[in-house]
Amino acid sequence: MYTPDPSRYEKMAYRRCGRSGLMLPAISLGLWHNFGNITPFAQQQSVLRCAFDNGITHFDLANNYGPPAGEAESNFGRHMDLDWHTHRDELVISTKAGYFMWDGPYGDHGSRKYLISSLDQSLKRMHLDYVDIFYHHRPDPDTPLEETMGALDHIVRSGKALYAGISNYKPEEARRAIKLLREMGTPCLIEQPSYSMFNRWIEDGLTDMLRAENVGCICFAPLASGLLTDRYLNGIPADSRAAHDPRFLKPDSITEDKLVKIRSLNELALARGQKLSQMALQWVLRDGVVTSALIGASKPEQILDNVKAPFGPEFTREELDRIDAVLKA
Ligand SMILES: NC(=O)c1ccc[n+]([C@@H]2O[C@H](COP(=O)([O-])OP(=O)(O)OC[C@H]3O[C@@H](n4cnc5c(N)ncnc54)[C@H](OP(=O)(O)O)[C@@H]3O)[C@@H](O)[C@H]2O)c1
Repeated sequence: MYTPDPSRYEKMAYRRCGRSGLMLPAISLGLWHNFGNITPFAQQQSVLRCAFDNGITHFDLANNYGPPAGEAESNFGRHMDLDWHTHRDELVISTKAGYFMWDGPYGDHGSRKYLISSLDQSLKRMHLDYVDIFYHHRPDPDTPLEETMGALDHIVRSGKALYAGISNYKPEEARRAIKLLREMGTPCLIEQPSYSMFNRWIEDGLTDMLRAENVGCICFAPLASGLLTDRYLNGIPADSRAAHDPRFLKPDSITEDKLVKIRSLNELALARGQKLSQMALQWVLRDGVVTSALIGASKPEQILDNVKAPFGPEFTREELDRIDAVLKA
């Protein structure tokens, strides 16, 4: 029987998501990796429990998370039954559809047919009546945006999701989606783009647009899938993502050029009295437009490090300039 830490809400900062009533933890946990069939169930459970014990109230999933696709949601359903059903109203659980999920013309992209049936499948796998946020996972240039946003509007009105979100939308696509949803009466709660020190594309128009529209932003892979930590400073550990699950982080992408930057950033972090992971998370949160940093974790210790990030020393102008200089070198 799991009893959460009674002091959990004192350990986290909560930030308002756009102009909505919803507060998100500054650090949220995603189940993209480490929750499929290659990770022991007890290890998954210890990460989820540690997250909640430290005030992480938001768990992010998608239909295709695994491996294999669907398995992270199925495992989460088992965790739900064991640990979370009595805490459902303390949690913000999200899922998505938009990437390939099943064979044939109806298991991918952005049709009403795909989104609505996919969410029904997700709810069954997770043993939930509703999710808090349902996202269209990526833009689909071949489906009218009116249809995709209409599906999100329908899903929210049907009560199967409380809020609608978009993910991986570029500034102009996002602006149109936000406008359509607003006209339909289901405001877009949040955009979920990638963002980290190594991947700054959102600074080129998206953040300004989200700020102007008062839409929240949760940025994924803020640690560049583990690169912006001390994980790879001395080689590739056997239990790391690059070694044991290199679907998206290939060992040969950890180049000497990257390592030079990682070592310099690590020194800057240590000079600030932080770990590199903490500095990297605090950096994505430095400007209020990012509501939450969406991390992954394979161990409770990583959660314990990362939840301290929002409470690190404020960046000075000089430190930000030095980080920019390292990244541009
Ligand atoms: N919307 C989208 O298209 C999309 C795409 C990708 C991801 N996402 C979401 O974003 C979430 C996070 O993505 P991500 O897992 O790539 O994020 P990330 O936070 O950049 O990387 C997580 C990895 O970093 C390592 N790590 C974390 N904390 C650490 C620490 N304190 N010290 C050392 N290493 C640490 C761990 O690697 P090891 O496993 O090696 O220990 C962990 O698995 C996903 O779960 C998903 O919810 C969304």
